[in-house]
Amino acid sequence: MEAHSLLKGKRGIIFGALDENSIAWKVALRAHEEGATFVLSNSPVALRKKDIFELAKETESQVIAADITEVSELEDLFEESMLLLGGKIDFILHSVGMSPNVRKNIPYPELDYDYLIKTLDVSAISLHKVLAVANKIDALSEWGSVVTLSYIASQRVFSSYSDMAHAKSMLESIVRQFGYHYGISKKVRINSISQSPTRTTAGAGVSGFNAFFNYADAMSPLGNADSQSCADMCMFLFSDMSRMMTMQNLFNDGGFSSMGISNKLIEQYIDCGCGE
Ligand SMILES: NC(=O)c1ccc[n+]([C@@H]2O[C@H](COP(=O)([O-])OP(=O)(O)OC[C@H]3O[C@@H](n4cnc5c(N)ncnc54)[C@H](O)[C@@H]3O)[C@@H](O)[C@H]2O)c1
Repeated sequence: MEAHSLLKGKRGIIFGALDENSIAWKVALRAHEEGATFVLSNSPVALRKKDIFELAKETESQVIAADITEVSELEDLFEESMLLLGGKIDFILHSVGMSPNVRKNIPYPELDYDYLIKTLDVSAISLHKVLAVANKIDALSEWGSVVTLSYIASQRVFSSYSDMAHAKSMLESIVRQFGYHYGISKKVRINSISQSPTRTTAGAGVSGFNAFFNYADAMSPLGNADSQSCADMCMFLFSDMSRMMTMQNLFNDGGFSSMGISNKLIEQYIDCGCGE
C-alpha cells in the first residue's frame, strides 16, 4: 500500500518483533514507511535470535531489551526511548503473547496453574504494566495511541487455544479499563485488533494451527486477513485519522466473526460425504 506520511513526526515503541513473520515486524516496516521513528523492544531471550537487528537497520531504529513483565525494565525502556527519540511517545504496539500450557500441549482441564499465571502475566497483564509505567512517568503524548493484538477466542471457544483464551479476554478488558482512565487523564487511546490466524512463531505454537487457519479462511468472505493488512490497520489506529476511537476490540478477520457457516464449508462437508 502506498505511504501517506500518516505517522510523520510521531515517535513509538514497538514490542514483539521476533522474526520476519511476526506481526510486529510488518508493523515496524509500515510505520517506517509512514514516517515514524521508533524503538524496537523484545525480551533478552528473543534478542539472541538476532533477526530484530536487521529490522532495526532497515527501519533506522534502535533496539532496547526488556522483559515486558518486569516493571523496572519497562521504566528504563521508556526513559531511554524518550531520550533517543527526543520526546514523549505517540504510539505503542503491544504484540506479545506466550503460554507455557499451550507450548507444552497440556490439556485444558489439567492446566498447570503456575504456567497459567505466566500466560496471563506475559500475554495480558504486561499491557497493564506498559500502560501503568507510561502513566506514572507521563511518557505518552496527549492523544497518543496504544494498540494490542487479540484473538476471537477471547469470546468463543477454540478448543486448543487453552489458557491463551483467558489471556485474550483479560487483555480486551484491560483495553477498556485503562482506556477509560488514560482517556480521562491524557486523551490516550487504547484499542485491540482481533486478528485472523496468521502464520507466525506464536501462531504455529497452537496445536492444530493449520485447521484454525484453513477453517477461518474457508469461513470468511474475504479470506483470512494477513499480517500486512493488520499493519495497515495499525497505521490508521496510530494516526490522527482514528483520534476518537478508543476502548474498542476491532476485528481484522475478513468477516469471520460475523459468520455462522459458508458455502465453501457446506460444499466441503457434502464432498466428504460425512453429512449424508
Ligand atoms: N499468529 C496468530 O495467528 C495471531 C492471531 C491473533 C492474535 N495474535 C497475537 O499477535 C501477537 C503477536 O504474535 P505473533 O503472531 O506476531 O507471533 P510472534 O511469536 O512473532 O510474536 C510474539 C512475541 O512475543 C514476544 N514475547 C514473549 N514473551 C515476552 C516477554 N516476556 N517480554 C517481551 N516480549 C515477549 C516474543 O519474543 C515475540 O516477539 C500475540 O499477542 C498473539 O497472541 C496472533
